[in-house]
Amino acid sequence: MRIRRNMIRKYKIGNPIETDSVIEAIPEILIDQEKAVIPASGEGGTETIIPASGDSNSKAVIPALGDENSGWIVDKHGKKLTFSMSSHACIYGLGEQVRGINKRGWHYVSFCSDDPHHEEGKTSLYGAHNFFVYDSRDCNDNICFGMYVDTPGRVEFDMGYSDPDEISIIFEDFDAYIYLLKSGHPSGTIMDIVRQFRRIIGRSYIAPMWAFGLGQSRWSYMNADEVRGVADSYDKAGIPLDSIYLDIDYMERYKDFTVNDDAFPDFKEFVAEMSGRGIHLVPIIDAGVKIEEGYDVYEEGVKGNHFVKKENGDLFTAAVWPGRVHFPDFLKEDTRRWFGDKYKVLTEAGIDGFWNDMNEPAIFYSEDGLKKVFEKIDGYKGKNLDIDSFFGFQGSVSGLCNSEEDYGSFYHEYKGQRIRHDKVHNLYGYNMTRAAAEAFDKIAPDKQILMFSRASYIGMHRYAGIWTGDNMSWWSHLLLSIQQLPGLNMCGFLYSGSDMGGFGGDVTEDLLIRWLSFAIFTPLLRDHSAMGTRRQELYRFKDTDMFRNLVELRYALIPYLYAEYLWAADNNEMLFKSLAFEHEEDARAMEVEDELLVGRSIMIAPVYTQNASGRYVYLPEDMKMIRFRGYDDYDEEQMKAGDHYVRAQLGEVLVFIRKGHELPLAMPDMRVRDIDTENIHYIRN
Ligand code: GLC
Repeated sequence: MRIRRNMIRKYKIGNPIETDSVIEAIPEILIDQEKAVIPASGEGGTETIIPASGDSNSKAVIPALGDENSGWIVDKHGKKLTFSMSSHACIYGLGEQVRGINKRGWHYVSFCSDDPHHEEGKTSLYGAHNFFVYDSRDCNDNICFGMYVDTPGRVEFDMGYSDPDEISIIFEDFDAYIYLLKSGHPSGTIMDIVRQFRRIIGRSYIAPMWAFGLGQSRWSYMNADEVRGVADSYDKAGIPLDSIYLDIDYMERYKDFTVNDDAFPDFKEFVAEMSGRGIHLVPIIDAGVKIEEGYDVYEEGVKGNHFVKKENGDLFTAAVWPGRVHFPDFLKEDTRRWFGDKYKVLTEAGIDGFWNDMNEPAIFYSEDGLKKVFEKIDGYKGKNLDIDSFFGFQGSVSGLCNSEEDYGSFYHEYKGQRIRHDKVHNLYGYNMTRAAAEAFDKIAPDKQILMFSRASYIGMHRYAGIWTGDNMSWWSHLLLSIQQLPGLNMCGFLYSGSDMGGFGGDVTEDLLIRWLSFAIFTPLLRDHSAMGTRRQELYRFKDTDMFRNLVELRYALIPYLYAEYLWAADNNEMLFKSLAFEHEEDARAMEVEDELLVGRSIMIAPVYTQNASGRYVYLPEDMKMIRFRGYDDYDEEQMKAGDHYVRAQLGEVLVFIRKGHELPLAMPDMRVRDIDTENIHYIRN
């Protein structure tokens, strides 16, 4: 592809902190925050800033590329950028977030958050992905551009929430690199912008093919026998499976890089036993390191000066699963090297997959915060707790978790500077995961390792995938997981998926079937659920045949999915697109929030409501519909572009093949490695 650097403008506001998210050098255009207009015209590199004529009160303007008349108002005093939206404009992107594919009409805060309540009223989830595309081409102003706001601290994207006709980007610190991206293509504009963005942030992480197999997880399988039991039950039910996840209880008292010997005697042998059966064990690693005399990781961390400190130089002490912990300073290169090497204990035991968790970082409480709360609570003793004092009392305890005060009370050493955590908060999980990924090249050079993380920032997509955290066993969260994918792909996170069936709450059999019917298309296909919830392993439910058929269909689809995934990574493409990305001139397609194009050949339309026997489907073009009941049991129907009501009973999966395309289906097997890729069956349109 021809490289057109001049379609990207990089503006510098204030003194931004480098995030290492963009890896391509682009000349900077400095913004005079007081007053300046940067002209939109021309495609050239750096441009001169032209002060706004005469008016000393006027604010700086960054033009919307391609349009002379509208632009971004730079408001230094309000620390914000604002932009007037056209009435029908759509906004796509922002990666892992709540709400629909079109982000217009809500405000989103970029601040990696450990919050299991992914409801529509929320503004942040675990990832901070500050890239979006604004598209108003069916309106009078006819503008389409991409914007990446590269700043590692808190930033709010008000997408028509405060004012329905305005985007405001509100900064805590007015220091950022702003990238504006424009397409030179008259058609294929959105994808052209996405491809340019993905080019400058670098190639997405590639997971091994086995990581496209089904993974079974639970918080937690408590010992080796329980894990064996899960593998046995899957085998007995004839349901394919490739991995079993080890949640925090495999460790000794939640200490990273330890294994509980009572629960997993001779871990290495156990890993080999499972691996002999074709099952990969995937342990969790948490960000906090338990404070315990004699625990090597803790002692080395203290000695090597690897933990974050408070302003007075004392180590910052917080609490997570093991109680008191210190947090490694992953922003420091030396610490990344040290922590990354620790994964060796597990890779040497035969482990080839990990998930990094609690790396926002999640904080139950800090030692200082807890002390203050106890003092405060003491003051309530013996008092009549009325409306104010009762809620104050209650709030003081619940406010301990992930508090702003704590995030503002410890420091990193980042690129030779001492920086307060909240200023670089969004880089923490990213750099934890980077530590691991950089180490893998050294400690396990011959292995392709599965790695995904909960917290993330753009840039981390080069090192790992993500999962979307602690969702619920709700139908609305099935829809959310569908809607999150295009935004994640835009930001480079191709290997991703949500906890299938829902993490919190009790799943029902029909929800699990419908969720699986969708998740068989997502790279990460993992059934995971929380302690205390209804058991969610597929073999526990009544209609085993239906679950088997669906998982077999997934395994039959893997050659297609994996090839399209590699193609997307190599070409800065998306594996999941909403219809508007391919049918830009189709106003109806812009409003479809529950169908996705998967790779180049197919579209899916999952059922995500309970007690439904079908759904409405909009076809942006003529397609061939396949209604799968299993990889070798389906019916076909040619369908015209337009709206249709399509029947899809429980266990039936709707796939639409585009004209001139074909869907390859392999012979599934119980493990990905055994899938017969020689005998591919094609369904053609
Ligand atoms: C966090 C993770 C979840 C995990 C739990 C226990 O909530 O998001 O996936 O099961 O911690 O480790």
